[in-house]
Amino acid sequence: MKKILLLFVLSVSLLKASADEGMWLPMLLGEQVYADMVKKGLKLTKDQLYSINKSSLKDAILIFAGGCTGEIVSDQGLIFTNHHCGYSVIAGSSTVEHNYLQDGFFAYNRDQEIKSTISVVFLDRIVDVTKEVEDGVKGLAWDDRVKKIPDVYKAITEKVADKENGLSGRIYSMFKGNQYIMYVYKTYRDVRLVGAPPESVGKFGGDTDNWEWPRHTGDFSVFRVYGTKDGKPADYSADNVPLKPKHFLPVSIKGFKDGDFAMIYGYPGGTNRYETSYGIKLKNEIENPSLVAMRDIRLKLMFEQMIKDPAVKLKLANSYASIANYWKFFDGETKQLIKYHIYDEKQAFEQAFTSWAKGKPQYENIFADYAKNYATWTPYSKMRQYLNEGIMGSPLTAFATSFIPLEDKLLKNGTSAADIKKSTDALTASRKDFLANEDLVSDEKILAATCMAFYNDIDKSQHPIGFYESLRSNYGDLKDESTYKKWAHDVFSKTMILDDAKWNAFMAQPDAATLQADPAFNYSGGFLKNYNTKYSSLFQAFNVKNAELGRSYMKGIMEKDPAAVKKMYPDANFSMRVSYGNVKSYNPRDAVHYDYECTGKGILEKYVKGDYEFDLPVKLIDLFKKKDFGQYIDKARNDLVVSFITTNDITGGNSGSPVLDAYGNLLGLAFDGNYEALSHKIAFDKDLNRTICVDVRYVLWCIDKLGGAKNIINELKLVK
Ligand code: ARG
Repeated sequence: MKKILLLFVLSVSLLKASADEGMWLPMLLGEQVYADMVKKGLKLTKDQLYSINKSSLKDAILIFAGGCTGEIVSDQGLIFTNHHCGYSVIAGSSTVEHNYLQDGFFAYNRDQEIKSTISVVFLDRIVDVTKEVEDGVKGLAWDDRVKKIPDVYKAITEKVADKENGLSGRIYSMFKGNQYIMYVYKTYRDVRLVGAPPESVGKFGGDTDNWEWPRHTGDFSVFRVYGTKDGKPADYSADNVPLKPKHFLPVSIKGFKDGDFAMIYGYPGGTNRYETSYGIKLKNEIENPSLVAMRDIRLKLMFEQMIKDPAVKLKLANSYASIANYWKFFDGETKQLIKYHIYDEKQAFEQAFTSWAKGKPQYENIFADYAKNYATWTPYSKMRQYLNEGIMGSPLTAFATSFIPLEDKLLKNGTSAADIKKSTDALTASRKDFLANEDLVSDEKILAATCMAFYNDIDKSQHPIGFYESLRSNYGDLKDESTYKKWAHDVFSKTMILDDAKWNAFMAQPDAATLQADPAFNYSGGFLKNYNTKYSSLFQAFNVKNAELGRSYMKGIMEKDPAAVKKMYPDANFSMRVSYGNVKSYNPRDAVHYDYECTGKGILEKYVKGDYEFDLPVKLIDLFKKKDFGQYIDKARNDLVVSFITTNDITGGNSGSPVLDAYGNLLGLAFDGNYEALSHKIAFDKDLNRTICVDVRYVLWCIDKLGGAKNIINELKLVK
């Protein structure tokens, strides 16, 4: 009985999006979910949601800096996104003297805006290119199809590319290769920092509160996009002017209540809602714990130095934040996958699929083949994680791998001097960036600790040949930490990467023998080549086979329940999606209720003077105490609402996404997911999944009252 019930629930949750699950393709909203959106409260027409001819909501949404979402909020190209999305620009523009990361920054006029090297990308239109792609690979066996696909993509996207106007096409495989959709993008390259709150506001709660609700983080930053006078993309120039957007979002300071409609546009990076039980097992038993163990080591050693020295803090801040973010994510993901028995659910679903598939040659062996494929790769999975997350987690080691192409050229007969110079020039340029962010003390310790962890935890047959033996004969017992420390110290004092004189001498006359004798290159090249020569083809074969099986599995699922296909959405893959749902409180566990919004009162409750994560600007405390909330006040609470939660289905990449009301006005910015639903990439939990959003009233209060930047507020179209 229980099993049947489980299967029923599963067939609903896997096939049709239930509750507020679903990352919908913007151009299909009208066909797929519009009626339901209206039922839930939407007050816009289909054309206002997405149109290629008229301006629509999609025109205000952009890809921010390659991995986040941003939105246009004024007719002068003003952009809102998260603080953690602008973080590298904010930290990179800061010095110990002008510490914008620590103190915040606001441009009070255009001249004060700070140029950056990031770009923003608008969506021009979406085209279904399934037929063209399939025609291009017709009749090919799977392996050949995989090889041919990049060329087929290229031929299709070349037709829409238009350099002068910044247009380019990108093709996305949807439903695991059962459909191909091209997004045509317009990229703007002159993007300037306009403002950010102090880090104590923008990252309030730090990694302790990250991925958690209740939450009191002012996670926003402000940028502006510029183009030529006729609106074309251009490199930075003083002559460029703020872009006149096709659409910008009005900003609502009216507030909302529990249950109100909320919708989110953005660029969710990746989900795997049709992951198999095999994938979950590998993830839970090997991939996630290995990643977490390696990141534990690195984070601890970085943090030790960061709290000692503000200059080190600035150097490492961005990399620390991104390592910590997914360290906590993957740890929590496995905990939740186990807690919610997702493995068992998937197995039950797969058994039902296999029963259905009996006698259908296309489908009946899928899961037997999955079993074989996973069994072949699994013995190497831990080694791969230790290599990527441990060995290459030393910045020096990772940088040293960039010498491999030069080594190849030096070893090859007849490489021209010009060709070699191209490589050495590039290395000299990238060394500068590397050194700017390099903290020697933490890196040397990371090198020693990760090298030792690899020795201890990875099967000896997978070690690079000879490396640990030579370490033992030169430095001592491999069970002894001090062996690795002595060795790491030698690497750091002898490598040319950290020695200008040696570097210059080598670059003037590069030769393979000197390069191979460099201890940093020798180590990093040795580990990487060990992987590349023995294991990378296995990993590739594993992925290619999984992709083939995944495509058939997906096709089978659709065939099994054709009626459900109309209501299916493809996995997230960093193409624009729309999610709709409600503002909504929840019960995370027995007897506990979480309210749908957090307030200023809660900020003061969490405040710890001088704390690394819970400190606050004195000015903020003063203003809060005076209840100086201006027009941003929530009257019912006589306080500021700083954040809220919704039932929207989003994931990493959606950071910075606009949270919109029924009329398309901006209510806030999505910036996180909740701990109870960290399994969301694989299974959406209809009761517990929440998106955490910073309230736009708090954003505006920070800009106006805390930052004094009325000029920014004056640009917005406020809905009161
Ligand atoms: N969890 C957030 C996301 O992935 C990022 C938050 C960054 N903050 C931090 N404390 N690391 O979008």
